[in-house]
Amino acid sequence: MSGTDVIYQTEALIAEDIEAYLNLHQHKSMLRFITCGSVDDGKSTLIGRLLYDSKMIFEDQLAALENDSKKVGTQGGEIDFALLVDGLAAEREQGITIDVAYRFFSTEKRKFIVADCPGHEQYTRNMVTGASTADLAVILIDARKGVLAQTRRHSYLAHLIGIRHIVLAVNKMDLIGYDQARYDAIVADYAAFAASIGIEAFTAMPISGFKGDNITALSDNTPWYSGPTLMGHLETVEVNTAAEAAGVFRMPVQWVNRPNLDFRGFSGLISNGTVRKGDAVRVLPSGKTSTVTRIVTLDGDLEEAVAGQSVTLCLADEIDCSRGDVLAAADAPPQVADQFEANLVWMADEPLVPGRAYWLKLASQTVSVTVSQPKCTINVNTMERLAAKTLELNAIGLAEITTDRAIVFEPYGESRTLGGFILIDKISNATVAAGMLNFSLRRAQNVHWQALDVTREAHARLKGQSPAVLWFTGLSGSGKSTIANLVEKKLHALGKHTFLLDGDNVRHGLNKDLGFTEADRIENIRRVAEVAKLMTDAGLIVLTAFISPFRAERDMVRALLPVGEFFEIFVDTPLEEAERRDVKGLYKKARSGALKNFTGIDSPYEAPENAEIRVDTMRESPEEAAERIVALIIGDWMPVI
Ligand code: ADX
Repeated sequence: MSGTDVIYQTEALIAEDIEAYLNLHQHKSMLRFITCGSVDDGKSTLIGRLLYDSKMIFEDQLAALENDSKKVGTQGGEIDFALLVDGLAAEREQGITIDVAYRFFSTEKRKFIVADCPGHEQYTRNMVTGASTADLAVILIDARKGVLAQTRRHSYLAHLIGIRHIVLAVNKMDLIGYDQARYDAIVADYAAFAASIGIEAFTAMPISGFKGDNITALSDNTPWYSGPTLMGHLETVEVNTAAEAAGVFRMPVQWVNRPNLDFRGFSGLISNGTVRKGDAVRVLPSGKTSTVTRIVTLDGDLEEAVAGQSVTLCLADEIDCSRGDVLAAADAPPQVADQFEANLVWMADEPLVPGRAYWLKLASQTVSVTVSQPKCTINVNTMERLAAKTLELNAIGLAEITTDRAIVFEPYGESRTLGGFILIDKISNATVAAGMLNFSLRRAQNVHWQALDVTREAHARLKGQSPAVLWFTGLSGSGKSTIANLVEKKLHALGKHTFLLDGDNVRHGLNKDLGFTEADRIENIRRVAEVAKLMTDAGLIVLTAFISPFRAERDMVRALLPVGEFFEIFVDTPLEEAERRDVKGLYKKARSGALKNFTGIDSPYEAPENAEIRVDTMRESPEEAAERIVALIIGDWMPVI
């Protein structure tokens, strides 16, 4: 049957019995796979061959595709980052520009989506994107060249990203005269490498994409090879969804469905296992349990549902459960933790800033996270581990991460849904990394919050005040310390219990190990924020005078404190004026080059955009500013106890 016949028959079926046609297609399983290898390995020829043999394109198109893969509808361009981690939505507007060409084709047995990923090292993030939703990787080798650095890189990335099925397609067999000895040597060579990086099994086959050997039918040119064919393997290989369906029940809750007072259901996509009416389920992280009373879908109620289905579950009890929680089998719940070891693939032009807070999205959970300095990066060509201070574009590294509250997770090796995550820059909103959780760190598991009887409210009540942090920020020499000092004197005179933390002073003690690099400034502010928080727990009004040049860290302090307790005070003095005053002579030193990383000169200052109070020191004297601040804080903003 020719390609044209198939199209006629398909059209006839659509015309006569659209139901039958849709049914036929709907119940075919789907295989997502990637092809990797350099252009020379014959990737586009092979993809063309698969499309041709599955009757998706015709002879003239195949020829054109062989000439130039770009000319025949290979769709490059922007992709939705949601493809990166299954179950993550809402990334569309970010317009991440990562080129991965996706193609769709189908045979009578299965539907396929193939991602054609560029091979060079500078496209690591593209390959990771394509691989993140793939069930299988076809690693293409040119039989004349054997296993190359690229073969190793692609195999490593495919394995890292959790692809469980690897096909080693030894291509261009026609160009080596279908030499079995050469083929066996390549396979043995690859097997040794695969074992060294933990790939347990792979399927090797001798093919020619150009001639069609062993693509849909076993070739007479390789009588020594007994199968399977590439298409045969792609059509029958049992894919991840089967493994996931066999697992234990998990469903990240996407939203709570409450159209009226009589109905309350939890909606989401089942990521693993099966759920039945009457099953005992547990809500994580709270650990509360209940029983499933209904499984609701658009097509009516079900008795049971499996991985891959979107459902709404009703429970017997009115327990707390909201977006971001995970519903799981009651007797085998996933883990909950806030510190992890993770692999990261850095995808942004801006390198990682250790210690800075990013958003982490994992399944339907979004939390704030900080990444420590990487333990190492991995050279993807040699698999060597190298020491590193940060992660640059396309780097792969291992690091410890700390979330600001506990999340529900599973190691990536066990669940891509509950172990895979992305990091988002809090200011630009861009996706900067893809990550995979390896395990949680024990120290997080064994340290629990101790509830104390004398609470922060009790401390504050005894002092007759509401705790607060007055966070002064501005250039060196802008007048922060002077004004903060005056404010403290006035509050003290009013009988308030205060404490002033000043940059220069704290750097003599608690923070004497820190300098003025970006990372050290971030750590400086993190420690000061924690100290200020402890002091507010003790009921104090805390004043801080630190340059605190980065918006991200000031926002971090704001988020650390209860709403209404953080007051950002921008001491706004133009650089020229601060430099003219040069109280400590440091600007002069910085200009002469004797002092590096000086704020305003060769280190940035990000002015606040939404400070509670702005002091324009060109118009207001320190005394006037202090009066105004005290009046606002005590008079207008602070609730009277
Ligand atoms: S911050 O950037 O980490 O918030 P912090 O307020 O603690 O800085 O310390 C700033 C003070 O350190 C300045 O007022 C100045 O006296 C001194 N200093 C020494 N070197 C530098 C530098 N490179 N940049 C800024 N301030 C410096």
